[in-house]
Amino acid sequence: MHSQLLRVSDVSAGTEDKPILHDVSLAVGAGETHVLMGPNGAGKSTLGRVVMGDPTYQVTSGSIFFDDADVTNEAADKRSLAGIFLSYQAPVEVPGVPLYSYLRTITQKRPELKMTARKFRARVGEIADQLDMGSSFLTRELNVGFSGGEKKKIEMLQLLLLRPKLAILDETDSGLDVDALSVVSKGIEAYRQDCDGSLLIITHNTRILERLTVDRTHVMVQGRMVAEGPGSLIDDIDAHGFEQFERAGEDGGAA
Ligand SMILES: Nc1ncnc2c1ncn2[C@@H]1O[C@H](COP(=O)(O)OP(=O)(O)OP(=O)(O)O)[C@@H](O)[C@H]1O
Ligand SMILES: [Mg+2]
Repeated sequence: MHSQLLRVSDVSAGTEDKPILHDVSLAVGAGETHVLMGPNGAGKSTLGRVVMGDPTYQVTSGSIFFDDADVTNEAADKRSLAGIFLSYQAPVEVPGVPLYSYLRTITQKRPELKMTARKFRARVGEIADQLDMGSSFLTRELNVGFSGGEKKKIEMLQLLLLRPKLAILDETDSGLDVDALSVVSKGIEAYRQDCDGSLLIITHNTRILERLTVDRTHVMVQGRMVAEGPGSLIDDIDAHGFEQFERAGEDGGAA
């Protein structure tokens, strides 16, 4: 059997008093690009956070394997070191921590990314240029007072610096102007090609996918996976919406 990088098997999860995900399964192979779509409130961000190990959510049944290791009960920092990256739909502001120091700290935690301060500075500068970001960003506090689009670029900067094995991008494209969208989609393409990383892209907008070859599309409705298909399923959704899947969700079955 082809070994998968990420294997989510029959996962049910939620907060203490609210079940959100029901028997969700999804597998992403090494170097593959997958897209997760679904109406607002379907549970897409929750799935991303559950895979990342966000303690807000408890897994009540099922398992999550990453790189052949069972990470279902691992803490988020362990999963991060193992190579899972989650770009948040709404990145948090961290007052008092300059962006540059933050980047240096998270990089130094990874033995495979150890580099001298000089090399690090050069690498960060290179990526900031690639993302069309001014260097003044780097001395500012992490995400504090940054515009929505700037925060998304900082998430991309972290992605390109950390070179994770799997990047889950949760609406990294939302709120970006047309030029920023192009910069960010080039960044995602660079990650795919230079790092040979796997992608799970959560999006409502297909423009971000134009530079990528999508291997698999997953559709979630009301906390359940209701359809899975090739990249062309996205065009079908664009043309016909989620109504066809919503009926399947109400039946409680997978299409
Ligand atoms: N921490 C939480 N506490 C209570 N309810 C939550 C929590 N996190 C998520 N939910 C609920 O779970 C459901 C799924 O939310 P989620 O954010 O995963 O949806 P989504 O598919 O990402 O939607 P969108 O496309 O709008 O981003 C929603 O009804 C949401 O209110
Ligand atoms: Mg969401």
